[in-house]
Amino acid sequence: MLRILSYTSGVPMKFEALFRPLQVGPYKLAHRVAMAPLTRMRAERDSFSPRPLNAEYYGQRATKGGLIIAEASPVLSQGRGNPATPGIYSDAQVSGWRKVVDAVHAKGGIIFLQLWHVGRVSHSSYHGGAMPVSASAIPIRAEGMKAMTADGKLADYETPRALETDEVKGIVEAFRQGAKNALAAGFDGVEIHGANGYLLEQFLQSRSNQRTDQYGGSIENRTRLLLEVTQAAIDVWGANRVGLRLSPHGIANDSAEPDPMPLYTHVVKALDKLGLAYLHLIEPRSSGAGRADVHWENVPSAMVLFRPHYSGVLMTAGGFTGETANAAIAEGHADIIAFGRIFISNPDLPRRLERDYPITPYNRATFYGGEEKGYTDYPVYDELTPA
Ligand SMILES: Cc1cc2nc3c(=O)[nH]c(=O)nc-3n(C[C@H](O)[C@H](O)[C@H](O)COP(=O)(O)O)c2cc1C
Repeated sequence: MLRILSYTSGVPMKFEALFRPLQVGPYKLAHRVAMAPLTRMRAERDSFSPRPLNAEYYGQRATKGGLIIAEASPVLSQGRGNPATPGIYSDAQVSGWRKVVDAVHAKGGIIFLQLWHVGRVSHSSYHGGAMPVSASAIPIRAEGMKAMTADGKLADYETPRALETDEVKGIVEAFRQGAKNALAAGFDGVEIHGANGYLLEQFLQSRSNQRTDQYGGSIENRTRLLLEVTQAAIDVWGANRVGLRLSPHGIANDSAEPDPMPLYTHVVKALDKLGLAYLHLIEPRSSGAGRADVHWENVPSAMVLFRPHYSGVLMTAGGFTGETANAAIAEGHADIIAFGRIFISNPDLPRRLERDYPITPYNRATFYGGEEKGYTDYPVYDELTPA
């Protein structure tokens, strides 16, 4: 069999498909190793603004022509559910984000912001005692799942308040404003967070949405909010700078559509008409938002299932290594692979994959909250191998 190798600096490149350039909306990606959105809970604790430390972290992970999706950021205070997550609804937050964006742009990187509303994955301590909101008044009841209170303690999930029909328009407007704020902060685009059991997925899925208005019932109705939010972001950015994330077979935060294919085939086909920058899937094997290692036998592959229904740029994430990511692209199942946990522990991940350098393992204990440790102190490979 003829084996084609490409070369950089005379080094044979093992993961050639990962380093093929790709046009995404107006941006020319130099490679397909994207940084997945990763909540790290290290923003300023009172204003929820990104700090210089956050700019350093993202700057470390930027590469020329490389795509970073910045961590999920609530578009309004009601959309919060974790302490110290950065928001995108105040002037201070926009200023903080601008420094992050500048650090990424200084290295020629491309950065999108993930726009978020957690819905019922929250606690009344964030909302002055008011209940979190959701599609319906159905609480998270999965075994062992706890809410994190505003002061970082664990508590039982409360029963959320179902949003009134006229309040749902307010959610769309909050996403529109979040999209505008991201534009003001200098981002290159936005990604709508429609995955992992958060508000937009609570509307999509039948177990969490038992509404009887135009946002509940049929698949078309349950998809309505997602599409209205996406359209609001498109109004601000143009479709080719808006991405969207889905987790069709996910189980995070007590989600799980009993029969996901009819719902998600409908959603993906509807999104396909919009000309988005990309559609971003999460592979079912990594459900639980990467918080646990799931090794499922015969698990379906989101990219394989939905590629036939989506003609635009398809990104996927979940448990990829250099080998499996390269194969996914080489075999045509996906166009971009987003890496989460190993991008945390390898700030120079694209270069390591390009050169086939060893991968530093991640430390789960430092994923959420804290300061430099497990955040900005992971070395680049050259620091590990003195000349
Ligand atoms: C610490 C951590 C934080 C995460 N935060 C987010 C987030 O803000 N938004 C999101 O869509 N997914 C989030 N995820 C899921 C990741 O984006 C990714 O889909 C998951 O980690 C699987 O990819 P991996 O196996 O390469 O880590 C998070 C995962 C981890 C481990």
